[in-house]
Amino acid sequence: MHIKNLNLKNFRNYSDEKFIFSPGLNVLYGRNAQGKTNCAEAVYYLCTGVSPRNRRDKQLIKAGENCAEISASAQGRYGEVTISAKISENSREVRVNGNKISRNADILGNIYSVYFSPQELRLIQDGPDERRRFLNLSISQLSRPYFVALSRYNKILEQRNNLLKNRDISLICDTLPVWDEQLCKYAAVIAQKRAEFIASLSPAAAEEHAYLTDGAETLTISAGKKYVGGEAELSKRLYDELSANYDRDIRLGFTASGPHRDDIDILIDGTDAKNFASQGQTRTAALAIKLAEVEIFRRTAGEYPVLILDDVMSELDLPRRKKLASRTCGLQTILTCTHAERALYGREANKIRIEGGAVKR
Ligand SMILES: Nc1ncnc2c1ncn2[C@@H]1O[C@H](COP(=O)(O)OP(=O)(O)OP(=O)(O)O)[C@@H](O)[C@H]1O
Ligand SMILES: [Mg+2]
Repeated sequence: MHIKNLNLKNFRNYSDEKFIFSPGLNVLYGRNAQGKTNCAEAVYYLCTGVSPRNRRDKQLIKAGENCAEISASAQGRYGEVTISAKISENSREVRVNGNKISRNADILGNIYSVYFSPQELRLIQDGPDERRRFLNLSISQLSRPYFVALSRYNKILEQRNNLLKNRDISLICDTLPVWDEQLCKYAAVIAQKRAEFIASLSPAAAEEHAYLTDGAETLTISAGKKYVGGEAELSKRLYDELSANYDRDIRLGFTASGPHRDDIDILIDGTDAKNFASQGQTRTAALAIKLAEVEIFRRTAGEYPVLILDDVMSELDLPRRKKLASRTCGLQTILTCTHAERALYGREANKIRIEGGAVKR
């Protein structure tokens, strides 16, 4: 899959700009604060409906303007797809092939993408939130039922948590079973899809990691909580777990168990990476996980995703840079860096120089 062109209007520091991408390596280069990350962000936004940087669409609109417009056309194995988004302060309108979509789920799965930036180190260093965010964004691109289940789960969970703050214990005890039945139905879909995803991610990430470290270290990824069994069985077990913990949840005022508390364990040579890995080890492990994500997309979707690498070359040592460069052969890569030569290693590339929110032609 590859993106052919991208148009930005009043998006971040861009007024009106067009990008033409090649199906191979595209290098966006230029000095700091010119708009390279902004362009990478726009690409990811059209693929997923969210910015990799923040959750507030408003910030995407160029300062002083009312509305940002972005659009891209991509070529995949099933033909061409065009996605556009018009972002205003309080609303947005997204079109896929010209048709207005009514649900956010409809953005996903049109253009597959994997995003990697130095911020992605948080995947290893930060708390479970970041790892769940990774799972959610990645699996949602591949599975619409997952995205739908996750949205519904989050809504019911919010209502459940509000109810738990109520003082009327009999109201709580009467209402919880009804909601929990719904909640666990969606929780089971989430748990099962995550288990499937981690089962694919784990060996793929170990393989990428062995490649990046010349086999010197091993990376192990596993689900913090193991869910086994079919959907009905999982749903029943999650329901029983919630029922057994009414007292705890009422005391705490929130739901203390369920997929919203899941985590994944990331170990390097058997040791917890979050607390013990060096900067370099963290970078390599994060990169291995992202390259594994590329591979899972290829296997599941039947074609490579668009790989967006924001500012990662400067963070890696020379051998890893070369390895990363060779791993990106055969798939469209949109890479940002300050010096184009850093990214190339003799490879052909579509080089795009960015200066002050414009392509320097
Ligand atoms: N909504 C906005 N309106 C106008 N300008 C914005 C907006 N959001 C961000 N900017 C500006 O866009 C500029 C370019 O940001 P960007 O992150 O793309 O830089 P970059 O080229 O990736 O730089 P670096 O090499 O430092 O990573 C920044 O100076 C930022 O202040
Ligand atoms: Mg940048």
